[in-house]
Amino acid sequence: MRTLIRNGTVVNAGGAVAADVLVDGETIAAVTAPGVFDTADEVIEAEGRYVLPGGIDAHTHMEMPFGGTSSADTFATGTTAAAWGGTTTIIDFAVQAKGTSLLSTLDKWHEKADDHCAVDYGFHMIVSDVNDQSLKEMESCIDAGVNSFKMFMAYPGVFYATDGEILRAMQKATETGSMIMMHAENGIAIDELVAQAIASGRTDPVEHGLTRPPELEGEATSRAIQLAKVTGAPLYIVHLSARHALEAVAAARNTGQNVFAETCPQYLYLSIEDLAKPDFEGSKYVASPPLRPRDHQADLWRGLRTNDLSVVSTDHCPFCFVDQKEMGRGDFSKIPNGMPGVEHRMDLLHQGVVAGEISLARWVEVCSATPARMFGLYPRKGVIAPGADADIVVYDPAAQQTLSVETHHMNVDYSAYEGMSITGRVETVLSRGSVVIAGGAFHGREGHGKFLSRDLSQYLV
Ligand code: URP
Ligand code: ZN
Ligand code: ZN
Repeated sequence: MRTLIRNGTVVNAGGAVAADVLVDGETIAAVTAPGVFDTADEVIEAEGRYVLPGGIDAHTHMEMPFGGTSSADTFATGTTAAAWGGTTTIIDFAVQAKGTSLLSTLDKWHEKADDHCAVDYGFHMIVSDVNDQSLKEMESCIDAGVNSFKMFMAYPGVFYATDGEILRAMQKATETGSMIMMHAENGIAIDELVAQAIASGRTDPVEHGLTRPPELEGEATSRAIQLAKVTGAPLYIVHLSARHALEAVAAARNTGQNVFAETCPQYLYLSIEDLAKPDFEGSKYVASPPLRPRDHQADLWRGLRTNDLSVVSTDHCPFCFVDQKEMGRGDFSKIPNGMPGVEHRMDLLHQGVVAGEISLARWVEVCSATPARMFGLYPRKGVIAPGADADIVVYDPAAQQTLSVETHHMNVDYSAYEGMSITGRVETVLSRGSVVIAGGAFHGREGHGKFLSRDLSQYLV
């Protein structure tokens, strides 16, 4: 089966060029000057459209247990929503519960995901129980294609790791060339502030933001960087939200340390004002780190331009307003942490192109090429080039759409971006050569997505 995508503008991280793309089976066979091939089994007309490598969302949580409930998207619904939004690969987090092993965790996550995903997927591993066995098992995870390990400086009693535990895991990462991913917030100090707020009757969702000040993200980020320096471990700061943390990352990168960071669309577009919405509406925006005052956003956009922020992921972790977010009525600390977004990352970052915040090529770089390199998937993923998987998005940059719960495909009963006008829209999506989105309809299937056993990060020398 050969598919020709013709007369489009192919956009890679290196720039844009008028070109045709020939797909043969599951991979890209050729990228040529327009008109070199004139027939194929199927022809997709892409005049006036961008032709992009499929998006890679390196931070999602499907079916994730959290705070006595579970995130609302299954691997089936979440990857289908991803496909609608032009994301053809997700990397989700397997979550080690305390007292269990990393390998049994990995098996469990394979059971949840295998034969259910609509697009390709990989795993990171959350290490919440550092001991001799789990440190040893990190090696087996790497052999199984899972070579990035998330740790938490937040959530004492749940995922929290002490500095000593982090140090030990970082030593193992150094030994194996694997990556430590860090949730960098000072959870011990935050828990004090939370307890004080609740005790004094301050229970609304906005307190979630006020009790997690940006300084405590900055402090934890700096501490993680120092621990990484002492051990020599590669470090990737997840969901960076505050300029304080960005400054620490930039300073480390200026010294040549292997420190990387991602931010998420919610930190670029939403703010603590959303958390302060009345009638418990603010609960829809509870995630950690919290949404920040609006003036952090310009710093984050600058960080994306300077590459101190290398990746944009969604941290997609949806909880419905009814019954799930509502668990925290009267006590904001019981609101499950997380927001939906896997469907909208490509569109929201395209708004950054429209607004002149980032270039067209940078859009593709932060949403596809860099996550592919960062997590050992390049050049199979993240590029339109011969030999790459035919994960391709045909994007109409002039289309207008309005984001809404009425039209999105995520399994959640609200949109964090309700009513937002977007210029640009995903028109056609191919996943390994199969058309999964076209003509405003889903043509994919549950189980089409394959597990991606990943190589080590390609940024490490
Ligand atoms: O609030 C968030 N971010 N929930 C998902 C878990 C995490 O910390 O990434
Ligand atoms: Zn986190
Ligand atoms: Zn997360």
